Amino acid sequence: MAIGIMTSGGDCAGMNPAIKQFVDYCFDKDEKPYLIYDGLEGLIDDLIEPASFEDVAGIMHEGGTIIRSSRSKRFFEYDYRKQAFENLQKHGIDKIVILGGDGSFRALNQFHKDFGINFVGIPATIDNDIFGTDYCLGVDTALNIIRQATDAVRDTSSSFKRACVIETMGRDCGYLALVSAITCGAEICIIPELDYDLDLIGQRLKKEIENGRKYVVCIVAEGCNHDKCTNTNQLVKWLEEDIGIETRATILGHVQRGGNPTVFDRLMASRFVTYAVDKLLLDEICTNVLVYKDSKFEFISIEYVNSKKYKIDEELLDLARRLVN
Ligand code: F6P
Repeated sequence: MAIGIMTSGGDCAGMNPAIKQFVDYCFDKDEKPYLIYDGLEGLIDDLIEPASFEDVAGIMHEGGTIIRSSRSKRFFEYDYRKQAFENLQKHGIDKIVILGGDGSFRALNQFHKDFGINFVGIPATIDNDIFGTDYCLGVDTALNIIRQATDAVRDTSSSFKRACVIETMGRDCGYLALVSAITCGAEICIIPELDYDLDLIGQRLKKEIENGRKYVVCIVAEGCNHDKCTNTNQLVKWLEEDIGIETRATILGHVQRGGNPTVFDRLMASRFVTYAVDKLLLDEICTNVLVYKDSKFEFISIEYVNSKKYKIDEELLDLARRLVN
C-alpha cells in the first residue's frame, strides 16, 4: 500500500520543503509517494498523482504549496468522504500525511473512523494556535515577513513623526502580533490575550512624545476585530484624536502567508515529515498529530489536540505587559 501527502486549510511557507522531503524520503525507504492536489477537495475529485523526483525539484525555496490547498465543505458529508475513500483505494493509498490545522486533522479523523485510512497530522499554520504544540510550520517565516515590514514602516513613520498601526493575521490568536511587538520594539501591543488600558498607554505616550519620541509603532492582532477589543481603525482614530499624532494603518494581510521559507521552517519541515513517515510505516493504526513540544517531537492523539484551546505561554505574555499600559 502507498502513502500520500496533502496540504489543507490556510497555506504557509514550509509546506513545499515538507512535500520535497516527503517524496525524497519515501523513495529512500522504497515507498511509493503520492501527491494529493487541492487538499480535501482533491481527495474527493481524485486529483491524486504518483510523485516523481522531478515534481519536487527546485521547490525548497518556494512559498505556498505546489499541491495547493482548500477548505472543503463537501468533506463534512459522508457520501463525499466515501468517494474520497474509493479514489484512494484505486491508487492503493492507505496512509496520509496531512499538513494543516486542527480542523483538517478532525476531518481526517472522521475519515479514519469511516474507512480506516491512517494519517499523521503536521501542524502547519501561521496562526500558531493548535493546542499541544509549541510550534506550527510557517510561523517563523511569517514572523520574519512581519519584522521586515514593520522595520520598513518604522523608517517612514520616523521620517514623518507619525504613528503606525500594523495589523497582523492570526485569526483569534494574538501570537504573531505578540512576538512581533516584542521583537520589533513596538510601543503598543493589542491582542485578545492581554488586557490593556488605553488611558495609561496614552499617558505614557504623551510623556514620551514630550520628551522627544519621534514615532510610535503599534502592533494589533487581527483577532481584535470584535466589539470587546480595540481594532485597527479605532486605534488610528484614538492615536490621532486623543494622542494628537498623525497615524497610518498597514494591514499586512496575505503577504504573511507567502514568501521563501526561512531556514528554520525548511529544517522543521524536514524533521516533521521524516518523523511522520516513519510513524506511518511502523504503526498498523495511526491517527496522530505530530507536535513539537519543549524542543522535542512527540505524537499526540487528535482527542488531546481537541480537548483544549491553545494558550500563549505566560512567560511570553509577560514580555509584552509593559506595552499594554
Ligand atoms: O489560518 C490562517 C489565516 O491566514 C488566518 O490568519 C486568517 O484569519 C485566515 O487564514 C484568512 O483566510 P483566507 O486566506 O481564507 O482569507
